[in-house]
Amino acid sequence: FDVDPEHRPLFGKHILVTAGPTHEPIDPVRFIANRSSGKQGFAIAAAAAAAGARVTLVAGPVALATPPGVDRVDVESAQEMAAAVKAALPADAAVMVAAVADWRTKDFAQEKIKKRGSAPPALILAENPDILASVAGSRQRPKLLVGFAAETENVVDNATRKRKSKGVDWIVANDVGQADGKGGVMGGDENTVHLISEGKVEDWEPMSKQAVARRLVERMTEVLTSE
Ligand code: CTP
Ligand code: CA
Repeated sequence: FDVDPEHRPLFGKHILVTAGPTHEPIDPVRFIANRSSGKQGFAIAAAAAAAGARVTLVAGPVALATPPGVDRVDVESAQEMAAAVKAALPADAAVMVAAVADWRTKDFAQEKIKKRGSAPPALILAENPDILASVAGSRQRPKLLVGFAAETENVVDNATRKRKSKGVDWIVANDVGQADGKGGVMGGDENTVHLISEGKVEDWEPMSKQAVARRLVERMTEVLTSE
């Protein structure tokens, strides 16, 4: 293979990416999910592999092919994703793109919940572990830790607060409420993002998720290959 640093600038680096939604089981036939398609995370994994990195992609349930040269670990729930992320460390950089479910059901029903002709069942929820925050606070924290922020309002303000509170280097903020004519950012092929770092906000013009991925990997390469 090609080890020319011009073409494979991330050769020798390990990059961890999470992508997709998580599914939180309610009973054997039902789950809680969200609209994440996994496209943005898969595009980032593909771009990092194309730049020569060893890439571990921890993927929730999505209908996407594994990009060439990427090691993929499939998971369903947030708890499984947390365990897979821990097992994949150490890494030089991690990009947490997954739309991790914030809550799971407190108790999984072993049998299908039946309509009993009475009131609908109440779902009792419990909060899931914050995978990004726990990686940020761990002894195995990657040199460059990147989170995504899905917001529907006050996008940059909320995402700037998230960068600080989670202890990460960069946050890629996207407005998931915005319409693109194809059902919005979640599931669509386009993205409009802001790259938030310490004391700095860059507004990127609307572009394809592939283009966001390439630009982000370029920026990561600058950091990972400096010094
Ligand atoms: N994240 C995570 N584990 C969770 C929730 C979120 O690792 N249990 C990560 C996501 O992968 C993303 C970042 O944290 O990189 C921000 O996710 P987001 O849902 O925007 O933020 P939350 O902290 O969950 O806050 P809220 O959903 O209430 O806005
Ligand atoms: Ca969340």
